[in-house]
Amino acid sequence: MHSSRFRSIAAKAIGVLLMTATLSTQAQSQKVVIAHRGASGYLPEHTLQAKAMAFAMGADYIEQDVVMTSDDHLIVLHDITLDRTTDVAERFPDRVRDDGRYYAIDFTLAEVRQLRASEGFDIENGEKKQGYANRFPIGESTFSVPTLSEEIELIQGMNKSTGKNVGIYPEIKGPEFHREAGKDISSAVVRMLKSYGYASKQDKVFLQTFSFEELKIIHDEIMPAQGVDLNLVQLIGGVSSYPWMFEEDGMDKLSAFADGVGPEKGLVVSRDSQKANIQVSDFVTRAHAAGMQVHPYTYRLDPGQVPDYANSYEDLLEIHYFRADIDGVFTDFPDRAVEFLRNR
Ligand code: G3P
Ligand code: CA
Repeated sequence: MHSSRFRSIAAKAIGVLLMTATLSTQAQSQKVVIAHRGASGYLPEHTLQAKAMAFAMGADYIEQDVVMTSDDHLIVLHDITLDRTTDVAERFPDRVRDDGRYYAIDFTLAEVRQLRASEGFDIENGEKKQGYANRFPIGESTFSVPTLSEEIELIQGMNKSTGKNVGIYPEIKGPEFHREAGKDISSAVVRMLKSYGYASKQDKVFLQTFSFEELKIIHDEIMPAQGVDLNLVQLIGGVSSYPWMFEEDGMDKLSAFADGVGPEKGLVVSRDSQKANIQVSDFVTRAHAAGMQVHPYTYRLDPGQVPDYANSYEDLLEIHYFRADIDGVFTDFPDRAVEFLRNR
């Protein structure tokens, strides 16, 4: 072959390779890691320490579950009750309700500040037994329940000091429960987000809820009233939660209100899958066709938490990120997901 023609073909081939590599990097760089309750696989969930660790591990977003105190402060707590992750039963034994639970909404912020937070636990034979045996030991060191503002200031402060732009991912917990108690938690959260500069879809925040009714109120009433337009995510626990979302036009209908969906991960890859037969549902294809991102939950590597169809946590990520084509994961182990995407 004439040498100039060879050089031309080689240059074109290299160009195609470079373009492919660039596109591939771009596609992968759009996939994100959301630290579920912080780096909760390593430090007690929803503590500022777990959030700082998630930040340092390179998570793209850090999650906050949000509930309200009796004096209308927003605190970062997964349950509407305090008894699974704090020592409330020891410090305020007479504040228990008839159902045996201690509700955050019955406590002032000053009281919540007196509690010590810990890894989640159940009581068995009068003893605290932590849900994940291999995680941070209960009773060691000192942790507390943060307010939403403290946590946003932590993340924004670290963004400033490191030059990063890590996002936040708040979830409105128990919106109907709060409404029945006369509290509009969603308006309070949106107001707080706005006060910290989160006002448009360009700002690095996703606001999530399991309640479509609440999502609709946030979209149609609360955000317009406050002059903001945030990215909204509809969480979906199962087909029975909202059967209409799984009908032919379900995702199109949902996309009128949501920018993304957060399904339980079994809705994306069937739990009946086997290593030789990975069953990817049409969930992601439908959501993408409707213009929504897909961020399933929750990816864990504790014993028994990686489904049998995957060889490892990383294999699980490979199947979900790249065979099912999801856009992000909620994970308790953000370091491993960040590393996985970096190496892919
Ligand atoms: O919000 C995504 C995921 O966190 C939903 O599950 O129960 O951990 O809030 P949960
Ligand atoms: Ca959540």
